[in-house]
Amino acid sequence: MKKLLVLSGVLLVVVAVLAACGGNATEAPVVEQPTDAPTPTEAPAMPELSGDPLRGGLLYDNWIKVLGVETPAENQALWATQTTNTRNGTDTWRCKECHGWDYKGVDGAYGGGSHMTGFVGVFQVAGMDANEILAMLKGSTNPDHDFSAVMDEQALADLALFLSGYQFEGSAFINADKTITGGDLESGKAVFGENCTDCHGPQGTAINWKNDATPNYVGFLALDNPLETLHKVRFGQPGVADMPSLVDLGVTDAEYNDLIAYLQTLPTSSPITEGGRLYDNWIKAIGAEDMTTDQPLWATQTTNTRTGNDTWRCKECHGWDFKGVDGRYSSGSHMTGFPGILSAKDKPAEELLAALKGENHDFSAYLNDAQMDALVAFMQQTQDFAPFINDDKTVNGDAENGKVLYEGNCQACHAEDGKALDFDDGEGVEFVGTVAADNPWEVLNKIANGQPASAMTAGLNMEWTWQDFVDILAYIQTLPTE
Ligand code: HEC
Ligand code: HEC
Ligand code: HEC
Ligand code: HEC
Repeated sequence: MKKLLVLSGVLLVVVAVLAACGGNATEAPVVEQPTDAPTPTEAPAMPELSGDPLRGGLLYDNWIKVLGVETPAENQALWATQTTNTRNGTDTWRCKECHGWDYKGVDGAYGGGSHMTGFVGVFQVAGMDANEILAMLKGSTNPDHDFSAVMDEQALADLALFLSGYQFEGSAFINADKTITGGDLESGKAVFGENCTDCHGPQGTAINWKNDATPNYVGFLALDNPLETLHKVRFGQPGVADMPSLVDLGVTDAEYNDLIAYLQTLPTSSPITEGGRLYDNWIKAIGAEDMTTDQPLWATQTTNTRTGNDTWRCKECHGWDFKGVDGRYSSGSHMTGFPGILSAKDKPAEELLAALKGENHDFSAYLNDAQMDALVAFMQQTQDFAPFINDDKTVNGDAENGKVLYEGNCQACHAEDGKALDFDDGEGVEFVGTVAADNPWEVLNKIANGQPASAMTAGLNMEWTWQDFVDILAYIQTLPTE
């Protein structure tokens, strides 16, 4: 509610400023020009532009995603006039790709490196009449810079308003070597706690928006690209409707400095949850090539007839309950007869690492040291799910509490009824409710660690307890299964 009020406040200010600068078309009385009146020598005042400059900031980041449109078939026409940046497709259409996160084009961070195009910045148009900028977006300075065929008038107006009034001099505190000058960490922590931790967790590690080959957490991006981070916190994330815009919330310039400095202190890895996602499906989690052979131990059993990637998944041999043949996989199509790994939690890291490099059980050709360590960290904290989940698949949780957590954290992606995402790649359907009913052990793992190669929340990195996970599970078991 507060957010909406502040947003309309921002818009009012924009409209007021524009009204003060130019004529106000809506209030101007309609005057009939006598037919014999002399032609006016002055050009008529340009109509006032109205729109949402904050949406303009999102469009600048990635208008294709914001508008939900297809990428044009050809690269942007100006792209061919440079050779240094070898990207293709969508990237060639993003304003930020040519003009930079610092809005300074070749004179800023994109003056070198793989993003360099040599194109000009847009910082110099800050303060200019938005109508004039709008004309530039329609090709007034260069016909190849006409975006009106791919974007509607409102989107162009929003972009013009953003460029006119809402650019920010990031180099005021972000240095060329990506370090930050100044910034009060306590204040930055407070801004983060108030606006970010509900989704990203207190350490910023609850959401990984890349795969686990190089996990991308907030702390990672803040170090890797503080200018991009600054733009994203000011305007939000394209496609994530409820990630806030701090401009909208009225954060001060000094607080941006504090926040970015603080974000750089956050961790760039989270071994336990990364290990959990590797245990689930390491091939998907790190984006590895599909396996062309079965895992060598696979041939020592005949009951589970899967082939290829599945035969390499830790969970396929050791179970979602970590009990192998002594647990859920003691029968049924997933049965292999292989042992569980629940006892691993009491074993030293060296012994577990040795097992992961064992004969016919050697994963070191596929996983790097950090990933092997993550698996070990994960296994050292696995626990028996028996107190949480009963043999008949009912769970010992409080669905009322689970509903609150679901609404606050899962609904944005999965929808109120859990049916926004369908995980079944075949004929059937598999919603959150379906998998919660069929396999609560699997879901408990995913609530704790997240989903491999997706930006799904890892509950262990939220301020939640295992009982909270079970409560969520209890609630999603009440959602429709089909
Ligand atoms: C493929 C690269 C590319 C993309 C994508 C691109 N621009 Fe440009 N832009 C340029 C080039 C090159 C110029 C200089 C054009 C000229 O005057 O010849 C320019 C000029 C501008 C100018 C005028 C700057 C000045 O001082 O004259 C503005 C404003 C601008 N772009 C905004 C945008 C916005 C907003 C977007 C996203 C919708 C965008 N650009 C996308 C390459 C690009
Ligand atoms: C309502 C939930 C929510 C809130 C609140 C939120 N974010 Fe996000 N954020 C997300 C999601 C979801 C993604 C992943 C988006 C994706 O996959 O594109 C994300 C992505 C990001 C990214 C990465 C964007 C990229 O693609 O490089 C950054 C940086 C980020 N958030 C920082 C923050 C900061 C800092 C705050 C607080 C000022 C914040 N977020 C608040 C949900 C949120
Ligand atoms: C093809 C089936 C299979 C796959 C896939 C598999 N394992 Fe195993 N694992 C076994 C078998 C069988 C054993 C028993 C020891 C042996 O014969 O090597 C074992 C033993 C272990 C042990 C030692 C047991 C203990 O309690 O100390 C650990 C730890 C272990 N596996 C972890 C993993 C992890 C982590 C993965 C995924 C990277 C994985 N395993 C993938 C079959 C598999
Ligand atoms: C930022 C978006 C996002 C959020 C937030 C999110 N999820 Fe997901 N979730 C996904 C995506 C995307 C997939 C499916 C990815 C795929 O198809 O591999 C998924 C998959 C799942 C699956 C099924 C996995 C499978 O393979 O069977 C479950 C269960 C699930 N989510 C539960 C939850 C719960 C519970 C929450 C809240 C605690 C939650 N999700 C929050 C995006 C999200």
